[in-house]
Amino acid sequence: MGEVYKKLMRCHENVRKKTDFVPKVAIVLGSGLGDYAEDVRVAYELSYSELENFPISTVPGHAGKFIFGFVDDIPVACMKGRVHYYEGYPVSDVVLPIRLLKLMGAEILFLTNAAGGVNTSFHAGDLMMIKDHISAFAPNPLIGPNIEELGVRFPDMSSVYDRELQKLLVRTAKENHIYLQEGVYAQMTGPSYESPAEIRMLRSLGCDAVGMSTVVEAIAARHMGMKICGVSCISNLAAGMSANPLSHREVQEAADMAAPNFKKLVTEAVKGMAEI
Ligand code: HPA
Repeated sequence: MGEVYKKLMRCHENVRKKTDFVPKVAIVLGSGLGDYAEDVRVAYELSYSELENFPISTVPGHAGKFIFGFVDDIPVACMKGRVHYYEGYPVSDVVLPIRLLKLMGAEILFLTNAAGGVNTSFHAGDLMMIKDHISAFAPNPLIGPNIEELGVRFPDMSSVYDRELQKLLVRTAKENHIYLQEGVYAQMTGPSYESPAEIRMLRSLGCDAVGMSTVVEAIAARHMGMKICGVSCISNLAAGMSANPLSHREVQEAADMAAPNFKKLVTEAVKGMAEI
């Protein structure tokens, strides 16, 4: 058994010593959704620090814990805080929590993040449904010996973001009068924001939004056969698109402003996942 799988198994055993909760939907809470758990009927909270060798975020505003509970009657596992590749963790650690949630029973993965808008028609505060991604600038989390217990060596990525879940998101946004952009998300490693030339490159490659997370998680989840959807909160226009330099504070503030709609969209869409 390889080291990555061994570590995952140990984490799974440790979680199971603490809770027998079986989530249907795993939700990764990005910037702007930090306090989303207020909308969740909490059954059990588990700090990442309670799990031996579990990757813990070092980013301000990304306190780390799992929140297990219910949205309506749907069992969900929320990740409040994720670790990023730029923090220095191996990418296998970055995706470990996602793999763990699948092992716990989660069939659906709902990814959220704050992202820079690359598409010139986007505005700060917009929400964007992720239709596809570009992983070429981030390390692939499946590099290394394939973990046969989790999935195949060469997994298909032709429809990472589930069609049915996309339809559900579009319908939910419409019903709740939430404006929802759509587009392609690219993951860069960070932690520096992109240069204006890099943003022009990404735009010419067909990218609509850019961030420092999400794609590696989607690849690991797809490898394990999860159904995936994702929404980005466009917290800023990407580098070179506005007169202002980018700052983490600005990103956080814009994400906080979009939070009420973001939360509503997540909650109402999760309710619709009962049938999926
Ligand atoms: N670039 C990369 N990551 C981000 C950005 C950005 O402009 N905004 C929020 N996360």
